[in-house]
Amino acid sequence: MNLSGEPGRSTPPHGKRPVLTAIEGGAMTRDKGDAMGHGMDLAQVANTLEHHLNVQQNLCTRLEEVADGLPAEVRNDDCLALARSLYPIIHRSHQFEEQLLFPALRTRFADDRSLRATLDRLHGEHWEDEAFAEEVQHELVEFVAGRCEENVEKLGYMLRGFFIGLRRHLAFEREHILPMLRMGETDR
Ligand SMILES: [Fe+2]
Repeated sequence: MNLSGEPGRSTPPHGKRPVLTAIEGGAMTRDKGDAMGHGMDLAQVANTLEHHLNVQQNLCTRLEEVADGLPAEVRNDDCLALARSLYPIIHRSHQFEEQLLFPALRTRFADDRSLRATLDRLHGEHWEDEAFAEEVQHELVEFVAGRCEENVEKLGYMLRGFFIGLRRHLAFEREHILPMLRMGETDR
């Protein structure tokens, strides 16, 4: 975790790489009924993205509740439930975005020069968030096991760093990527 700077994105730990891989120039079609080549049109992609954004938003709310309640108001079983669900939620969302959403955007907006840089940035943030999610997951378990002052301080700092960065990422996707998908569907 990045404990040296302000709460935000962490530096991935040495030797640990998230499962994500960039999908460059995949064999996507521009068929109007199947913008993705995966049986989903842009409207379905938009709806699925919105679902993943909402799930991650709810996750941020739960993480903030824990951070605000530390230590006395935080139950061990809530921490362990969060620890179990944290990484899978993040990873599932990233899989959808990297494997379906991003190729669909590259295909539909092939002439948009700034889009490539935007998607590269989002990909990098996914990479960081997956590494950070694993660390937060570990720290939640450590807190339950120890509940010492050091655990409380470290967990609170990590939780806030994680959900603040994730909320920023989600806000961008909700405000910029979702409208692109809706516009791309109606402009056909
Ligand atoms: Fe994302």
